[in-house]
Amino acid sequence: MTTKPPLRIGLLGAGLIGREHATLVLKHPGTVLVALADPSPEAVGYAASLGVPHYASYLEMLDKEALDAVIVALPNALHVEAGLACVERQLPMLMEKPIAENVAAAMRLVDAAEAAGVPMLVGHHRRHSPDIREARRAVQAGELGDIVAVNGMWLVKKQDRYFDAAWRRQPGGGPMLINLIHDIDCLRYMCGDIESVQAIASSQARGFAVEDTAAVIFRFTSGALGTFMMSDVVPSPFTYDVTSGQALYFHHEPENCYYIGGRKGTLALPMMHLWGHETADGDWRDRTVRRGLQPVFSSAYVNQLENFIAVARREAEPVVPGRDAMQTLAVTLAVDRAAREGRPVPVAELFAET
Ligand SMILES: NC(=O)c1ccc[n+]([C@@H]2O[C@H](COP(=O)([O-])OP(=O)(O)OC[C@H]3O[C@@H](n4cnc5c(N)ncnc54)[C@H](O)[C@@H]3O)[C@@H](O)[C@H]2O)c1
Repeated sequence: MTTKPPLRIGLLGAGLIGREHATLVLKHPGTVLVALADPSPEAVGYAASLGVPHYASYLEMLDKEALDAVIVALPNALHVEAGLACVERQLPMLMEKPIAENVAAAMRLVDAAEAAGVPMLVGHHRRHSPDIREARRAVQAGELGDIVAVNGMWLVKKQDRYFDAAWRRQPGGGPMLINLIHDIDCLRYMCGDIESVQAIASSQARGFAVEDTAAVIFRFTSGALGTFMMSDVVPSPFTYDVTSGQALYFHHEPENCYYIGGRKGTLALPMMHLWGHETADGDWRDRTVRRGLQPVFSSAYVNQLENFIAVARREAEPVVPGRDAMQTLAVTLAVDRAAREGRPVPVAELFAET
């Protein structure tokens, strides 16, 4: 048996999530961390602590180091220019979410990567969670029947200091574009595409210009309807990061936060409770019984890295291709627009403007 040499990875951005990626890459037998690029003074000592070369400029790192692939964990506004630099150098990338700041920029990167044949995996890590994958399988296999009604929650209390950074108090810096995008990606992955959205947002609780709470309505392409409640001022375990135990830096509280209702039954996850009547012709006068789907437990971030290794070696398709992540971004931006303008927004409207 031939063993493949480990994938040589360069890291762009060694902040919060970049350091998590570095730890995963260092631990995985199929990867080596070759170097990192980050102009912040703290990154110098951090690179030294890992024993890898440090670059202030990612372009210099891309040109000087022998890399097989890169992880882009830069601020959102830098994703596209960094991505294009990687495309130019034929470097497969794990691009953090959101793929870009707007649909036009996302389109530029996706078109360039596809035209150059450079593989890209976008960091919507929840798709790599076993429960989300199992829910998608069950929906696609018709085990819930036609999907009719979908419901979800993201209710957390963020710490006051989180809002010290002025941009987090301004429109665009709030939970809709930073957090809801993960839930929208999960809902799309499990239940199919979203065609149009409506939303009401409120900033009453914190009093900032940016929203702290929102109620969202989705119409799926299949015809199913969905609702979603989000707030960053409500203490609760009802957020996927906490209920699933799949996140890197949250405690685990086994609860449900997504409910997928089909004509044969309802799946509540991540606990994977499958509710229905005992017989196919049962109705609301009959008992509901709970069965459980049993996905094999694993870690979403490790699964994500493993998919990336295979993608970079051109042995597998990305679980989150760039074009798909662009659609998730468009739905999220449509929700933001729907709340600001007080009208239903078709997702296609965002693409018509590019
Ligand atoms: N998938 C997830 O679980 C997850 C979690 C957190 C953040 N994110 C995403 O990851 C990205 C980074 O978020 P973060 O929270 O780590 O931010 P962060 O601010 O903690 O880190 C960003 C890092 O990039 C560095 N940087 C800035 N300009 C640079 C440049 N020109 N070249 C190289 N480095 C540069 C900064 O110095 C900083 O260290 C964002 O797009 C965010 O949406 C994803």
